[in-house]
Amino acid sequence: MSFAAPQRIIAEGDIVILYISINNMHAIEVKKQIMNKHGILVEYTHQTTYGALKVENLIGKEYGGKVELSRGYAYVLQPNPELWTNNLPHRTQILYTPDISMILLQLEAKPGSIIIEAGTGSGSLSHYFLRAIKETGHLYTFDFHESRVEQAKEEFKKHGLGDFVTVQHRDVCSDGFTEELTGVADAVFLDLPAPYLAIGHVVKALKLNGGRFCGFSPCIEQTQATCVELEKNGFLEIQTMEIIQSEHIVKDKHIPVIDLEFVKTKREDDILQTAKDQKKQPGKTKKVLTTIPPPMQPGHSGYLTFATLPPLSMR
Ligand SMILES: C[S@@+](CC[C@H](N)C(=O)[O-])C[C@H]1O[C@@H](n2cnc3c(N)ncnc32)[C@H](O)[C@@H]1O
Repeated sequence: MSFAAPQRIIAEGDIVILYISINNMHAIEVKKQIMNKHGILVEYTHQTTYGALKVENLIGKEYGGKVELSRGYAYVLQPNPELWTNNLPHRTQILYTPDISMILLQLEAKPGSIIIEAGTGSGSLSHYFLRAIKETGHLYTFDFHESRVEQAKEEFKKHGLGDFVTVQHRDVCSDGFTEELTGVADAVFLDLPAPYLAIGHVVKALKLNGGRFCGFSPCIEQTQATCVELEKNGFLEIQTMEIIQSEHIVKDKHIPVIDLEFVKTKREDDILQTAKDQKKQPGKTKKVLTTIPPPMQPGHSGYLTFATLPPLSMR
């Protein structure tokens, strides 16, 4: 039940995040035994770069606490969508937190929202939708890959989210969404190779008083085709954006103190000479808090296209 509500004590069956460092985390299921490669149940020991953890020992411990590994220690955290995105088993390419933040904001995902998503993929985005819309909302998520559908169903159930999500096996481009979803959705999100083929079905699924759409596409050609279809189908406020996360490094820097009186009275040559001398033999410096732009720009993930379907009376 580890995703459903805040929890103080770790219970058998929980999914926990074993946090060693920001770049070294593991999502593990708390259970006493595990099947080995010969199909025999054996004691569950999880291996890390700082040695082994007997997983059974986590039961009854407090979330946020420190646990001993055979060659070090780690912290055990209750998972949230952000931690899950960084540790989930990849069955497909996934969406990450920077893009997802904008999707949640633009689709106005909130408690009570009815949201349709296709494809489910690895369920990275689905976990954020579920956190935003439960307990009164519902997520309907579709994928045409049968085993991904089964894995996602199993995962949501294990995470205590099963009551707030319906996972269905369906090709939404050729068959649309299911009939009972006609006119019920507040928002529809598509992460598909050809989202433009499903826009007619999106119109049918959105509420009669309108709703929001978002499509994620890595290539501009997919985005262009989606925009054309959105316009043809009466969508307004069509907007495409790219989210580039740029983290600035904040650090103290020691910079030379400039004697302004000296600068005022001396000739340019003298000032240059003094600067050169100071480089060889630094004089007085001052500590200043600075921000440094990141050494590398993060790469492109995809284009997010948002649009509004107006109420039926205005279409
Ligand atoms: C990139 S993944 C989605 C990843 C997901 N957004 C996440 O964050 O984990 C795309 C998924 O769409 C599914 N898909 C592609 N075309 C589809 C279609 N026509 N109908 C339903 N699912 C489709 C694929 O099987 C795949 O699982």
